[in-house]
Amino acid sequence: MKYLSSCFTFATAVLLLFSFHPSSADSHEQFVQCLYKYPHITNSISDVVYTKSNSSYSSVLDATIQNLRFFNISSKPQVIVTPLDVSHIQATIICAQRHDLQIRARSGGHDYEGLSYVARNCLVQAGATIGELYYRISQKSKTLVFPAGECPLVGVGGHFSGGGYGYMMRKYGLAADHVIHAKIVDVNGNLLDKETMGEDLFWAIRGGGGASFGVIVAWKIKLVPVPSTVTVFNIARTLEENATEIIQKWQRVAIKFNENITMKANMERVNSSKSGNPKVEARFESLYLGRVDELIHMMQKSFPELGLVREECTEMSWIESILYKAGFPSGQSTVVLLNRTQLNGLMLLKAKSDYVRDPIPDVGLERLWHFLYEDAAKYGYIQFTPYGGRMNEISESETPFAHRSGYIFHIQYGVYWEEKGDEAAQRYMNWIRRVYKYMKPYVSESPRAAYMNYRDLDIGVNNNGYTSFSQASIWGFKYFGNNFNRLARVKTRVDPRNFFRNEQSIPPLMSNGGK
Ligand SMILES: Cc1cc2nc3c(=O)[nH]c(=O)nc-3n(C[C@H](O)[C@H](O)[C@H](O)COP(=O)(O)OP(=O)(O)OC[C@H]3O[C@@H](n4cnc5c(N)ncnc54)[C@H](O)[C@@H]3O)c2cc1C
Ligand SMILES: *[C@@H]1O[C@H](CO)[C@@H](O)[C@H](O)[C@H]1NC(C)=O
Ligand SMILES: *[C@@H]1O[C@H](CO)[C@@H](O)[C@H](O)[C@H]1NC(C)=O
Ligand SMILES: *[C@@H]1O[C@H](CO)[C@@H](O)[C@H](O)[C@H]1NC(C)=O
Ligand SMILES: *[C@@H]1O[C@H](CO)[C@@H](O)[C@H](O)[C@H]1NC(C)=O
Ligand SMILES: *[C@@H]1O[C@H](CO)[C@@H](O)[C@H](O)[C@H]1NC(C)=O
Ligand SMILES: *[C@@H]1O[C@H](CO)[C@@H](O)[C@H](O)[C@H]1NC(C)=O
Repeated sequence: MKYLSSCFTFATAVLLLFSFHPSSADSHEQFVQCLYKYPHITNSISDVVYTKSNSSYSSVLDATIQNLRFFNISSKPQVIVTPLDVSHIQATIICAQRHDLQIRARSGGHDYEGLSYVARNCLVQAGATIGELYYRISQKSKTLVFPAGECPLVGVGGHFSGGGYGYMMRKYGLAADHVIHAKIVDVNGNLLDKETMGEDLFWAIRGGGGASFGVIVAWKIKLVPVPSTVTVFNIARTLEENATEIIQKWQRVAIKFNENITMKANMERVNSSKSGNPKVEARFESLYLGRVDELIHMMQKSFPELGLVREECTEMSWIESILYKAGFPSGQSTVVLLNRTQLNGLMLLKAKSDYVRDPIPDVGLERLWHFLYEDAAKYGYIQFTPYGGRMNEISESETPFAHRSGYIFHIQYGVYWEEKGDEAAQRYMNWIRRVYKYMKPYVSESPRAAYMNYRDLDIGVNNNGYTSFSQASIWGFKYFGNNFNRLARVKTRVDPRNFFRNEQSIPPLMSNGGK
């Protein structure tokens, strides 16, 4: 199986082009002319350019939007490019600068704040989803896999460049930790590989996000081994079944389990269909890289409070566990991972994140249950993902993703809603902001760490895309710790004029007077 120990995967699906000056209506026409005249185009570019007057424009734009919050944005891209090869990306970058358009790369379209679709100037398309990647690997091997996230539709462009974790983080670390080579088109339109981009840029795009540095075309990744049979469970415990006590114990044991077990804990609201009254519960979701007997034995020994029984567990192959985690019914063919329109009921979503160093006391957990009973928490959730294992062994500066040892778990707060309009959005977002504010005493501080892939514009934004290093460091240190300094140095070297920018892109050191 040596030939499979690594593989290349494409990273760029779409490029969106936005104009800086909404009044200059012709800039996008000149941009399109520039594309047509660009030398050395390998594939015909006229087949991949969509202006607003094209009847397919909307469907191409909406195809990978994963959050309804960004469906009706007023600032739509002037032009969409769906590149088929590198020359299309190069031409787009050069012509965009020439005609004053801004570019946004989109891969899977899962940015929580829609940063790959909302901008003042431009958009282009970029690549594979992790579901496609998992499927392709599974066609070649049952025991070599890739340690990335859960949701099959997440794109490799944003996900790998921001870190990317899933149920094997405790054993193998992040997706970005397994990137061994990359190709990127820089601000000058040059296609760079690992050698020509330089060590610092190769470091930056494995956790610092791709969008500040260029358009990532492809990743080369290293696969990891798993046993041919793994065991999963997904179980709920109500308050009457001692949910709070079990979470309390979970906070102490989940980081100490052997690294073959990752068990997430969720505090969530469920609809009690009989009374219509809300009910809250703790849900434990786990992947064990081994057989059910061993798992039950270990749980009886180190976590008897959970009361896990054999009947609650299912043995399957690793690729089947991906379908299971994604909520597909058992027996579903894995080929569904190639389907990009498998969404049932796209909703509006806002999320935030935190990192925890010490167990949250009972009083802290009790209040969280109360938050979940509120009306705005109809589809609210609070998810804890345990650390430990491999995450303790990788240094903070190895990649830009700084949140490694010293944490016991990671929190994702999320809220979905269905009602359209600003008033509803404010109500739900207000709920999650209050939860976040409430959690301050229980989570990391100075900085209060956050996960870049759970993009959150509440923690700070660049002013019109331009901002000083010190202003940006407010959110920068939360996402990257001390690595933010080095990211800004890399940015200064590769894109000093700050062409690749968005609301939370890394600023070059000298903008607005610099540091
Ligand atoms: C339903 C859901 C489930 C999730 N599950 C997980 C999970 O299990 N684990 C986890 O770690 N995260 C998870 N995430 C978060 C996810 O990792 C991030 O949202 C990620 O950034 C999405 O990448 P994307 O390519 O799909 O998004 P996009 O919106 O396409 O891109 C995100 C950002 O990356 C930039 N970008 C995209 N492609 C490129 C490229 N080729 N070159 C340069 N820049 C690029 C975009 O411009 C944008 O700034 C989840 C998100 C959602 C919505
Ligand atoms: C829309 O754009 C696509 C891709 O460039 C092109 O093939 C198609 O002919 C265009 N359609 C119209 C109606 O202009
Ligand atoms: C988008 O706008 C249209 C027309 O203004 C409206 O009918 C639709 O409900 C809006 N959709 C969302 C998700 O806000
Ligand atoms: C809950 O905890 C109490 C006290 O420790 C115990 O007596 C009871 O059996 C537990 N309930 C369940 C369902 O485990
Ligand atoms: C994890 O599983 C692997 C392979 O199944 C095994 O070799 C290893 O010993 C396990 N780790 C621990 C700590 O038990
Ligand atoms: C909860 O269940 C009630 C009764 O079955 C139903 O009317 C309501 O729509 C459900 N709410 C949600 C949020 O699913
Ligand atoms: C993808 O899934 C959707 C929703 O289940 C379905 O309607 C569609 O036919 C599927 N597409 C393919 C190509 O299988």
